[in-house]
Amino acid sequence: MAEADASAISLGPIGVFDSGYGGLTILRDLRKTLPEYDYLYLGDNARAPYGSRSFEVIYRYTLEAVKELFARGCPLVILACNTASAKALRTIQQKDLPGIDPTRRVLGVIRPTVEILDKVSESGHIGVLGTPGTVASNSYVLETMKLFPDMKVTQQACPLWVPIVENSEAEGDGADYFVKKYIDALMAKDPETDTFVLACTHYPLLIDKIRKYAPEGMRILEQGHLVAESLKDYLRRHPEMESRLSKGGSAQFLTSENPEKFDSLASVFTHHPVKSRRCALD
Ligand code: DGL
Repeated sequence: MAEADASAISLGPIGVFDSGYGGLTILRDLRKTLPEYDYLYLGDNARAPYGSRSFEVIYRYTLEAVKELFARGCPLVILACNTASAKALRTIQQKDLPGIDPTRRVLGVIRPTVEILDKVSESGHIGVLGTPGTVASNSYVLETMKLFPDMKVTQQACPLWVPIVENSEAEGDGADYFVKKYIDALMAKDPETDTFVLACTHYPLLIDKIRKYAPEGMRILEQGHLVAESLKDYLRRHPEMESRLSKGGSAQFLTSENPEKFDSLASVFTHHPVKSRRCALD
């Protein structure tokens, strides 16, 4: 009887969703920390970037992507995108998931990042660098206030950092101007900032220049390993979910854009070749 029950559960990969390429930096760390699982990555490149879109649009696009990953068998979906996590995660968790399938889960990248701030910052002054959408949502400020009400969070929108990365200019001389500009703007707002949160999946690709222009001693948080460690802990605490995940160590890639186009830029993020398939979203 027990055997019959077990075989009725179909195992599936961990879904990883991003507006485009940026979530590949999160996937990279997920695979490093949790290599035994299968992953299905979906990039909505045809409609990216999400960073400057309205709440309604980001929510609708993200929900479509989550449903697609569920339909393809993922019991668990990670929104590996700050903008989607900021603007859509809570509504999907609270309003949509109970009606779609209450046994599946959708998790984001903001909480795992905020949770460790007290272990990193000495001054308690945090600088959040993100897309205009993430900054406008105030999600980092609100989440931090819930956990650490004494901290001070200063935000800086960096609207040109994503286009710089997506145009393969992260290492070019032209990027320096805009990296310095936004860092200087943040430090002018709060000179006591001692910790930068890179609150956008693309920003790890600018890490060398961010280090170059950050004040000495600045702690710089990249999210990939934080999200991966948090997922590891989540799966330890939720064996009922862990047992639904397939373990083949594979990664497959879907894009709403042209796959050849996706593959050529994706390798910049993954540092190895990627072969994607097209997936229409609407
Ligand atoms: N992945 C998005 C984020 O982390 C950045 C790209 C976009 O604006 O769509 O906010």
